[in-house]
Amino acid sequence: MKKIIIIGASSGLGMRVASDFARMGWRVGIAARRLDRLEELKAQFPSNMEAMAIDVAAPDAARRFEDLIELIDGMDVLLYAAGTGWRNPELDPAKDARTVDVNVKGFTAIVSAAFNYYARTANRLPGQIAVLTSVAGAKGLGVSAAYSASKRYQWNYLTALDQLAHARHVNVRITDIRPGFIDTALLEQDPNKDSLPLLMSVDYAAPLIEKAILKQKRVAYIDSRWAVVTALMKAVPSPLWRHISFDL
Ligand SMILES: NC(=O)c1ccc[n+]([C@@H]2O[C@H](COP(=O)([O-])OP(=O)(O)OC[C@H]3O[C@@H](n4cnc5c(N)ncnc54)[C@H](OP(=O)(O)O)[C@@H]3O)[C@@H](O)[C@H]2O)c1
Repeated sequence: MKKIIIIGASSGLGMRVASDFARMGWRVGIAARRLDRLEELKAQFPSNMEAMAIDVAAPDAARRFEDLIELIDGMDVLLYAAGTGWRNPELDPAKDARTVDVNVKGFTAIVSAAFNYYARTANRLPGQIAVLTSVAGAKGLGVSAAYSASKRYQWNYLTALDQLAHARHVNVRITDIRPGFIDTALLEQDPNKDSLPLLMSVDYAAPLIEKAILKQKRVAYIDSRWAVVTALMKAVPSPLWRHISFDL
């Protein structure tokens, strides 16, 4: 039985992907801070799901993650789906700190522990580290400075891990999944949510995310329209970019 661990499975995309993999017959380890929500999910799949409370920003995050790997008896795939972020043109320091805690510090703790797990186990079949990053990594966004910078950090960290795996002969595939706007709790705080462009439903986006994982894509945009938008964003020269104003 193949095994996947999903960090950030108490809501949104992580929760949906966890249910789908459990339905496909995988053994699934789920984690997030809200254990009550994880337990509700596990109750639907009592024979092939295990839950553990993990706060990725806490000092014991990597140790608890390793405990979860042990609990499900190995890990073929890690999906890091934990994340947070806000529209924050006022640069509220508490929001920025929270974003860095989860998207940078927690991400690094968990993903590096997963890489070291694969390095240690010298697995015969390739392991996989998949992360829900974002198209926001393409360019610094004035309305979400910390969020867009944190997603760029994730892009670059994953590129580095892919190179490191090759250099150190670690048998792991790296998958950077870059969604555009998807209707989840993450967007609830955005007053402009209903007018966001190319907004996707979880029902539409989740199968595309799962396909990217199963095909072990190196980079996947969710969806192809967002690949085009990202290419356009990247092509805008910096002197011009500063004049593009998003709704504040
Ligand atoms: N929705 C979008 O439009 C969109 C677009 C691009 C990228 N993404 C990315 O997709 C990922 C998933 O987002 P989503 O849309 O599914 O949002 P969501 O519904 O808000 O889910 C976020 C998940 O992260 C977990 N989390 C937050 N802080 C955590 C912490 N300190 N420790 C452990 N888990 C933590 C939450 O669980 P607890 O609160 O229970 O801890 C929750 O399970 C994020 O990285 C996000 O940046 C989303």
